[in-house]
Amino acid sequence: MAPRYPLPGATDRIESLSRDALAAIQLERLKWSVRHAYENVPLYHDRLDRAGLHPDHIAQLSDLRRLPFTTKADLRDTYPFGMFAVPQERIARIHGSSGTTGKPVVVGYTAADLDTWAGVVARSMHAAGGRPGMKLHNAYGYGLFTGGLGIHGGAERLGCAVIPMSGGMTVRQVQLINDFRPELIAVTPSYMLALLDEFVRQGLDPRRSSLRYGIFGAEPWTDALRREIEQAFDMRAVDIYGLSEVIGPGVAQEFAETQDGLHVWEDHFYPEIVDPVTGEVLPDGAPGELVLTSLTRETFPVLRYRTRDLTRLLPGTAVAAVRRMEKVTGRSDDMIILRGVNLFPTQIEEALLSCSWCSGHFRIELVREERLDRMIVHAEARPGHWSIPDTRDQADAVAHHIRNTIGVSVTVMVVPPGTIERSSGKAKRVVDRRPGREPFPA
Ligand code: DLL
Repeated sequence: MAPRYPLPGATDRIESLSRDALAAIQLERLKWSVRHAYENVPLYHDRLDRAGLHPDHIAQLSDLRRLPFTTKADLRDTYPFGMFAVPQERIARIHGSSGTTGKPVVVGYTAADLDTWAGVVARSMHAAGGRPGMKLHNAYGYGLFTGGLGIHGGAERLGCAVIPMSGGMTVRQVQLINDFRPELIAVTPSYMLALLDEFVRQGLDPRRSSLRYGIFGAEPWTDALRREIEQAFDMRAVDIYGLSEVIGPGVAQEFAETQDGLHVWEDHFYPEIVDPVTGEVLPDGAPGELVLTSLTRETFPVLRYRTRDLTRLLPGTAVAAVRRMEKVTGRSDDMIILRGVNLFPTQIEEALLSCSWCSGHFRIELVREERLDRMIVHAEARPGHWSIPDTRDQADAVAHHIRNTIGVSVTVMVVPPGTIERSSGKAKRVVDRRPGREPFPA
């Protein structure tokens, strides 16, 4: 039986730790995690042997850089349980990431892993404004997806009453928010917009709802969308980040007081930023791809996992010992290259939300015409802002704004309220109809 990671409980009061004290704990845990992965996961044993490395070579935190990366392909190749580092009888839960193509990535948790997870999510919920005794409306999907059950466990740990709604049944979601009067809501930001529409449709004033704090994540979203949600509901909206491969939600969290990016819970997950092309480690402050190493996972240790999420690391503010990551702008594989210009769907979201007529629901369609790629942005008008004579001017104004800010020419089509398909989980923003392209994963 693998021993529990070193110094459990040492970071229970992470806000009062110094950076040096944290680094000492990280080093102990890193040594444990590398040894645990090496001794129990054949892939790591082979990789380290081939690189001429041994767990004994980890003497300082910077030695992490000597380890090879782990990629999503490694996890797919070992489907379903090849990366599990504990025997079957110690596994208490299995989750998976959706993945629209091929097999899902399967991850496992021992009872101790579930305890760690509830701990980091409880910490995140507290940072987000949650307090014991509050009610949480949890509209993240329950199931293999880590969102629903991950948030659930952490909120219970904090002492909240959880309303386990899951996604979907939008009419009922709004009725129950109205009747049960939760202070907290956890949901993808795009589905929050769908809930907003439903409030309005039911003739309810969202600003008079009981909701005070929203915990939004699982997909990229912008400060423009934050402002939109905060104004519509008269609430505080904060970002939560995580991924199944590393634990689920609760890897990093934005504080309600500072709203300045996400503090990475570095006592459990060690972050690095690398150049997405060369893999070179970049200094703090430089933008690049986030790479995460688990320091305390029993079932599913990951060493230098390439998340493909693009961000940068900044010094901590609300918690001095840990670093912050800036809001994720997108995944390296969501980047659209349109006639040589790189752009992310979040940039389109930002541009659309700068127009008062736009509801924030949008879809990007990529087509190829006469060997030239073209982007069509379908942007939904807010109720009360849809009038056919105006749509041409509205569309031209946004296209002009996008050309000036992002530097690409796109076609904008303003569509009536309610016509862009809603997702009750992660929004599907891009449909790629160019020949030979797979539609983008959700
Ligand atoms: O989305 C875990 C989660 C659930 C996080 C609920 C937050 C809230 P996966 O399905 O494995 O896990 O997807 C992970 O989603 O690599 C990012 O690309 C994206 N993602 C997650 N949180 C954010 C965020 C969950 N706050 C993938 N901002 C990650 C931007 C995010 N992207």
